[in-house]
Amino acid sequence: SDVPVIAIDGPSASGKGTVAALVAKELGFHYLDSGAIYRVTAYAALDRGVALDDEVGLAAMARTLNLHFDGIEVYLDGRPVGDAIRTEEAGRAASRIAALPALRAALLDLQRGFRQLPGLVTDGRDMGSVVFPDASVKVFLTATPEERANRRYKQLIDKGFDANLAALVQDLRERDARDANRASAPLRQEADAHLLETTALTIAQAVAKVLEWYRRAQ
Ligand code: C5P
Repeated sequence: SDVPVIAIDGPSASGKGTVAALVAKELGFHYLDSGAIYRVTAYAALDRGVALDDEVGLAAMARTLNLHFDGIEVYLDGRPVGDAIRTEEAGRAASRIAALPALRAALLDLQRGFRQLPGLVTDGRDMGSVVFPDASVKVFLTATPEERANRRYKQLIDKGFDANLAALVQDLRERDARDANRASAPLRQEADAHLLETTALTIAQAVAKVLEWYRRAQ
């Protein structure tokens, strides 16, 4: 495809979504938060009584999901799901179903459909490795576990949720381990991905770095 893609992968709460959305805005590109697809799929499964370990049932459900996005809002069957998919519980459920290869395969076409002119910025775990292996620029965006727990803490408090820092550190550790150790599309830095370590960077600095790599790749 001639449509440019900037693929930003990394662990939970690294800030990749914030950076990806700002890069998309700067370039006037579309933005896809692929984690939201896994989150809303888990949410739909809980809603419809499909067990989170029923790989065949989940994959069948995923193929017929009526999803659409408007900015950062996600709609399921025409209704906004809002912050219900942004809780830690929803993240854990997403991470459980995301380990199932048939479900991942069922979500490929949906994700690739977002590749439209003038371009796409997307974030997730396997955007550069599996979904868009021919991406124009691949970034592996990370930060120390302590910094990521702090970022997630602030994000949850801002949304009006309760949050406990120690529990968040534990949660991130478990989710990272599951995402990195699964057989299907594990989280890892691709050989051709730029490493963006953001612990000591501002959001603006991280955005500038991605834009610089993109312009250099033109
Ligand atoms: O990025 P976010 O925390 O919203 O993603 C929720 C979960 O969805 C992750 O922990 C991961 O297991 C899964 N995921 C994935 N592949 C992606 C995006 C998210 O497996 N491309």
